[in-house]
Amino acid sequence: MIIGVPRETKKNEFRVAVTPDGLKSLLHGSHEILIEEGAGAGSGYLDDEYRDKGARVVSREELFSRAELIVKVKEPQPEEFSLLRPGQIVFGYFHLAASEELTRACLDAGIVALAFETLEGPRGDLPLLAPMSAIAGRLSIQVGAHFLEKAHGGSGVLLGGVPGVTPGHVTIIGAGVVGENAARIAAGIGADVVILDVDGARLSELAGKLPPNVRTLYSSEGALEQEAERADLLVAAVYLRGRRAPKLIERALLSRMRAGSVLCDVCVDQGGAAETSRPTTHENPVFVVDGVTHYCVANMPGAVPRTSTNALAAAVLPSLRQLADAGLEAFLARSPGQQKALNLARGAIMNPDVAATFPALPAAC
Ligand SMILES: NC(=O)c1ccc[n+]([C@@H]2O[C@H](COP(=O)([O-])OP(=O)(O)OC[C@H]3O[C@@H](n4cnc5c(N)ncnc54)[C@H](O)[C@@H]3O)[C@@H](O)[C@H]2O)c1
Repeated sequence: MIIGVPRETKKNEFRVAVTPDGLKSLLHGSHEILIEEGAGAGSGYLDDEYRDKGARVVSREELFSRAELIVKVKEPQPEEFSLLRPGQIVFGYFHLAASEELTRACLDAGIVALAFETLEGPRGDLPLLAPMSAIAGRLSIQVGAHFLEKAHGGSGVLLGGVPGVTPGHVTIIGAGVVGENAARIAAGIGADVVILDVDGARLSELAGKLPPNVRTLYSSEGALEQEAERADLLVAAVYLRGRRAPKLIERALLSRMRAGSVLCDVCVDQGGAAETSRPTTHENPVFVVDGVTHYCVANMPGAVPRTSTNALAAAVLPSLRQLADAGLEAFLARSPGQQKALNLARGAIMNPDVAATFPALPAAC
């Protein structure tokens, strides 16, 4: 198979889907690997390192016109829409439910969209989302602490406090991979942490393994309101697979939050959990509504591309190798979890949750 690894064009996105090390096991099969010039530079991987491992370094045009399988990090960007070809397989993050424009463009292009974020592992886990969620969860506390500083528009609260002074309060909604990682870092710096979820079994699991300064709480409407009002930093990290994030933080609740507090809406890539959220970029990451600083960067791991690329490329490689060696049909037939990666094919939506989000678009599921 001809596999193409393009340079990412989303604003401030420096990750790349394959590292030079990963090429070795891909080239084991009879595959040709095309890497776009400079694709790895943002993560510290040079063209020559890819060349040395057997890839051909090519122009963007050659890559998109020849590759049968494109593996990339972020969803196709508007300037890439016209480069996509019917039947071309694109394997990467899509988050289609968050954007009708993107979904329409990919349908019009006729690509096969295989989404990292809906591919499930044998235990119903999300092996291609998890490493980036772990990074985003850890970063959410780091960026939250930064924007709580007075000079950055915050209330001037130090999350960890000092002896004799109450620490900051961190509220985390969603106790999945993002939530757990956020809780660990927040607890580690000494904050007072509460993590909410609607999944009681998951809360029990976390209660047994998180430090004592993390409380777990069932996410009823009342509990969520109370903990949002107390928060210095509110991290939103809910996920309903393939669907738009539920709007749990309405404008009325936002207006009751502390002045100078920070809302880090990590699930903004699925539309965001706050009514007031809209995607931002690393260049211009925040905006303020009702005195609350909103951090809504949809590609947070892009801020630490060396770590993110190494984690993502390692997670993607086994699936990529199977896909390239076995071909699309056999890859999808291998397990129900792998079948779930299929979001679009032959001009139709193949994922029921994306289809339910956009009922006017053609679907075949
Ligand atoms: N912005 C970024 O750069 C970035 C990076 C990585 C992940 N994400 C996003 O973060 C979100 C979370 O990812 P994850 O890997 O932690 O998902 P996950 O599936 O591991 O966890 C999601 C959790 O949300 C809980 N949940 C669902 N509905 C809820 C509700 N109404 N109230 C409370 N909890 C609820 C679920 O029970 C689950 O425990 C996803 O949208 C993911 O795409 C964003």
